[in-house]
Amino acid sequence: MSTNTLTIVDNRTGKSYEVPIEHETIPAIALRQIKVNPDDFGLMTYDPGYGNTASCKSSITYIDGDKGILLYRGYPIEQLAEQSNFLEVAYLLIYGELPTKERRAKWEYDVHHHTFIHENLARMLEAFRYDAHPMSMLIGSLSIMSTFYSELKDCRNQAVQDKQILRIIGKLPTVAAFAYRHRIGRPYNYPNSTLTYAANLLYMLDYMHQSDYEVNPVLAKALDVLFILHADHEQNCSTAVMRNIGSSLADPYSAMSGAAAALFGPLHGGANEAVLKMLKEIGDAKNVPSYVERVKKGEFRLMGFGHRVYKNYDPRARIIKKIADDVFEVTGSNPLLDIALALEEVALHDEYFVERKLYPNVDFYSGIIYQAMGFPVDMFTVLFALGRAPGWLAQWRELLMDPEQRIARPRQVYLGSDKRDYVPLDQR
Ligand code: CMC
Repeated sequence: MSTNTLTIVDNRTGKSYEVPIEHETIPAIALRQIKVNPDDFGLMTYDPGYGNTASCKSSITYIDGDKGILLYRGYPIEQLAEQSNFLEVAYLLIYGELPTKERRAKWEYDVHHHTFIHENLARMLEAFRYDAHPMSMLIGSLSIMSTFYSELKDCRNQAVQDKQILRIIGKLPTVAAFAYRHRIGRPYNYPNSTLTYAANLLYMLDYMHQSDYEVNPVLAKALDVLFILHADHEQNCSTAVMRNIGSSLADPYSAMSGAAAALFGPLHGGANEAVLKMLKEIGDAKNVPSYVERVKKGEFRLMGFGHRVYKNYDPRARIIKKIADDVFEVTGSNPLLDIALALEEVALHDEYFVERKLYPNVDFYSGIIYQAMGFPVDMFTVLFALGRAPGWLAQWRELLMDPEQRIARPRQVYLGSDKRDYVPLDQR
């Protein structure tokens, strides 16, 4: 008997089944043969939230949640954060290898030459209400962008994919900046291709024709590193949406609009916004113990704490703490930092959090940094989306190139009524 198999005994029938094991998984479809009666559908697995289900084979990102390891295409996140830059990491995630010098220069040139958005889109952004949430504007804009390019039906074609990748990575900061400027009633700044990716974003957000305007290089570098830290995180909620929508061969703008919508939720990318609201609500470090007590009673969750995968520490949170120091040197400390540090201190030593392996995640400190840099709270998730864009695109491209992938179509356990006859209205 092969040792790389699993033997399952169905105690209902006494029958035994041998199921192959590959890469520490069993194919779910192998369970379908397990039946009591020939007419039965066969066994399935039940896994709400996909806590133990692999939906794809991927070569993009590796996470060891127990050891706190995060690798992009094999490279440790710490090395990339320190030595690379966001556009290079984007290339690495999407195309699988670090670019040569020439490729990197061409990639950067190409991205910088896809930063202008169609004027129709700029006008559509103007049609949003003055107080529209910029994340909703981003989600809407991605969807609108799918109307501009006629070749999208052919998204299995690699040249078509490559073009959309450039457009999306190039244009997203412009959309984000225009959404922000719309919100505060200021004229749009058009992209400046002489600046780095992050510096160009800061320029489009802030520039008001001051003669001595310069993007602060420390803040641009910090933003670039934050983008790297957010660039991919394997099969999280929004990436699963990107793949699910992409699996129907919908265009990448529509798929990414869905992915961004998933990111918007407070349990996912919306958590950085929720962390800030929570810290403001706590108000003072002395209120931390009573707040933590309420969390333990189950009244609400501690935002920015806990992770489905990391059960030791989130390596991104460690790098972020260092960036915070650099940023606060420029901006002055953020008063919310004291509350955050007190909260971390209490939670890390409290049995409730230790037992459940709840540690600060990437969103715990990113919001405080964004706020110190002057971003309004509702831009936080937009920044997360900009960072995550290469990851979504890499996963979408990998999906389309994977011959084993099919349209996503989960099963369900039906617990509703048996067949019954329609009751006319006057007899109910
Ligand atoms: N505060 C208090 N208790 C918590 C928290 C928290 N933040 N997170 C989990 N728990 C408790 C939960 O109540 C449960 O306790 P019990 O076993 O007594 O019922 C236990 O820990 C396990 O929780 P879970 O809901 O089964 O864990 P999960 O893996 O499904 O959820 C999570 C992961 C990130 C959604 C969750 O930890 C959470 O809601 N955190 C707060 C929101 C947040 O910071 N999200 C950002 C995640 S990182 C960036 C991203 O993915 O976008």
